[in-house]
Amino acid sequence: MSETSVLLQPTVLGAIELTNRLVMAPLTRCRAGAGNVPTDLMGEYYRQRASAGLIISEATQIMPEGQGYPNTPGIYNEAQIAGWRKITDAVHAAGGKIVLQLWHVGRVSHSSFQPHGALPVAPSAIAIVGEGRDAAFKKVPFETPRALDAAEIPEIVKVYELAAHHAIAAGFDGVEIHAANGYLLDQFLRDGSNHRSDQYGGSIENRARFLMDVVDAVTAAVGADRVGLRISPLQPANGMSDSDPWATFSQVVRAVDAYKLAYLHVAGMGVDQPGAAGPAFDLNALRPLWSGKMMVNYHYDQARAEAAVQDGHADVVAFGVPFIANPDLVNRFRLDAPLNAADANTFYGGDAKGYTDYPVYLS
Ligand SMILES: Cc1cc2nc3c(=O)[nH]c(=O)nc-3n(C[C@H](O)[C@H](O)[C@H](O)COP(=O)(O)O)c2cc1C
Repeated sequence: MSETSVLLQPTVLGAIELTNRLVMAPLTRCRAGAGNVPTDLMGEYYRQRASAGLIISEATQIMPEGQGYPNTPGIYNEAQIAGWRKITDAVHAAGGKIVLQLWHVGRVSHSSFQPHGALPVAPSAIAIVGEGRDAAFKKVPFETPRALDAAEIPEIVKVYELAAHHAIAAGFDGVEIHAANGYLLDQFLRDGSNHRSDQYGGSIENRARFLMDVVDAVTAAVGADRVGLRISPLQPANGMSDSDPWATFSQVVRAVDAYKLAYLHVAGMGVDQPGAAGPAFDLNALRPLWSGKMMVNYHYDQARAEAAVQDGHADVVAFGVPFIANPDLVNRFRLDAPLNAADANTFYGGDAKGYTDYPVYLS
């Protein structure tokens, strides 16, 4: 790839200046310490990847009830903020930018994660079919969640707002609202998991109300130009489905567009399983509905990423697994260097192995 490649050109996402168009996708690695506090090892991992134009942090629970996997970091207390502060300082010292992904897993959680062993919460009392993980990472059947009372939802919106403040206090350049992959906000958006008959269910406007309220609160808290939104309209994981994904997500994208966010992040999971989450559509059809910057993701390589930006389908491209295995992915693309293969056995949990020990390319 030549130095003039569009992927190596700087750009701006809202208030965040990127030195290139390659973004590290959010990647849960389950290596937080006691109390779900970020560790120095996590700091080393992110520092190694600071040549990405932007790092999106691993999903980070906004409150204890939002946790669904062991050793995922939080952003709801002083120790967690202090732990993250060391990481953002390390990334910034290395010339990088980093935003925090705000997360509540909803019904993907298990009572073993919940304060007082309560049931996980969701829009409706509908269990995911299949097995999830408990707090010991043991496979267990998903539980039937408790449907949130309407009065509880504004309280969770406030928690998102507080978490966004915490992220800025921890030195992040912004936040990404995680409304993808079948977690709480996505559970509200799609009619397979949201059977409510109040103001948070039924019409698309009602199903999107929780997300819109979160967008409203978080943008008011930290500025829209420091807020991104992630959606995955065709993702079937975590039991997700929608009777009309195009109607749902085109309306959501149009509505959020008015907020002038830093970026919209469209993850393509499910495009290779047509119809698994409802009638499929071409994700590029969302592009004309969004007046701001667009980030795309899912199985991109250098050539496809270059084409997506050249064709105008995207402004920046996020890479997940390639950044796990190649801390110096940007340089490898620059040099047309071969890529390390990722070891999936070390994705979730463990120590430095498969985390901070991937070699950089020596030309
Ligand atoms: C180990 C692992 C952890 C992930 N964790 C998250 C996460 O915390 N938040 C999220 O939105 N997506 C998460 N994803 C999805 C990735 O962000 C990305 O969408 C996916 O890997 C596809 O991109 P890729 O083909 O470039 O890897 C995860 C994926 C993997 C493989």
